[in-house]
Amino acid sequence: MKSSSKLSHSRSSPLKKLESFPLKKEVSVVLPVYQEAKNLEYLIPEIDRVLVESEVSYELIIVDDNSQDGTEELVEKLISKFPLNLIVREVEPRSLEKSVLKGLSLARNSVSVVMDADFSHPPAFLPEMIMPIVSGDADITVGSRYMKGGGIENWSFLRRVSSRASGFLAKGISKLSDPTSGFMAVRSSLVSDLPVNPKSWKVVLEFVIRLNGRVKEVPIVFCDRRFGESKLDNGVKLAYLRHLWSLYELRLPTVMELVKFCFVGLFGLTVDTTVLVALVEGFGVGYLLAASLAFGVAVSCNYFLNRFWTFRKMNVESFLGSFFSYVSVCGIGLLVRLVVMSLLLSSAFNSGEKFYLLASLMGVAAATIFNFIGSKVFAFAK
Ligand code: GDD
Ligand code: MN
Repeated sequence: MKSSSKLSHSRSSPLKKLESFPLKKEVSVVLPVYQEAKNLEYLIPEIDRVLVESEVSYELIIVDDNSQDGTEELVEKLISKFPLNLIVREVEPRSLEKSVLKGLSLARNSVSVVMDADFSHPPAFLPEMIMPIVSGDADITVGSRYMKGGGIENWSFLRRVSSRASGFLAKGISKLSDPTSGFMAVRSSLVSDLPVNPKSWKVVLEFVIRLNGRVKEVPIVFCDRRFGESKLDNGVKLAYLRHLWSLYELRLPTVMELVKFCFVGLFGLTVDTTVLVALVEGFGVGYLLAASLAFGVAVSCNYFLNRFWTFRKMNVESFLGSFFSYVSVCGIGLLVRLVVMSLLLSSAFNSGEKFYLLASLMGVAAATIFNFIGSKVFAFAK
């Protein structure tokens, strides 16, 4: 990793955590870049102009994933005029999230900003992003396109819908109006030793979730990039889904265990049916024997899936013990299902066998909850 720097600002004093005293107007602006030389040529003077006008002193930390597009030459040219740091990451594969973390780890000022380097996050919004942190009113600010005063310029209907949909997916774990935003300012002391492990571009969302600090959203107008092309491809989108999953697991661990438990249950049902049909049709095995064998296969599959996926965090050591408790729980679960079903059919519904399918489904739901609690508390308990 190469780096060149010229900094006109001294290291700020260490800060205590989660206190709301005001900070100096000193920021470290982290710019992750991949092939943005053309944008940087105009963006750097623009950021300088805005910040100088607002009497904010700053350092720019450009983290370049070895673009080889003239970024290094540009920084060399501008370094005598502006307080620039250039980090060239020569690590494969390139990574926006790792670049952002690298930049933040080098930030020396009391406020850190992360923004795109293609004019999509217009520098004009920098003072509004920074001031709530400086004044001590917020620990982190997030630029939002979807709150009053915010907006997007020139986006197709399809892009708007897909952006809204990806934000919607995060609503269960974040109150942000714009959870997929990439524009933030934060108290540097809060992020320097925060354990983060972003699996996608959504570093801002991960910080907001892990920080548990005071969040303020700031309306911004997201503009089309000035030069070049977006690097947001399908791989990035897929990584976002994986990232979301891990953030849901972090935030709502038991809910996510239940979700996984249900997936495993559906899988088990498929295995059960497949084995049953195969034994009956393929091998001429009798129904009852086939059903028992199918149940045995399905329950064993589910045991492993639940042990090593659903409840992997429990680190169960025993095998036989946990296997038999699991099978027992499932057995009692079957009883729960039958009892609920017959209770519904005989009394509450008072409708005889007409609604047997509905009653059965409700029995399955009750049994699933029972099995889940039983598995969590008995079979896979630590
Ligand atoms: N170092 C580094 N490495 N920087 C990267 C990489 C990489 O692999 N990929 C992209 N960048 C930089 C770009 O150079 C740019 O400064 C910034 O990250 C955003 O990348 P774009 O390619 O311009 O992404 P976008 O405009 O499609 O997406 C932006 O808007 C989305 C909202 O629609 C980002 O801000 C997303 O986070 C945001 O969700
Ligand atoms: Mn962009």
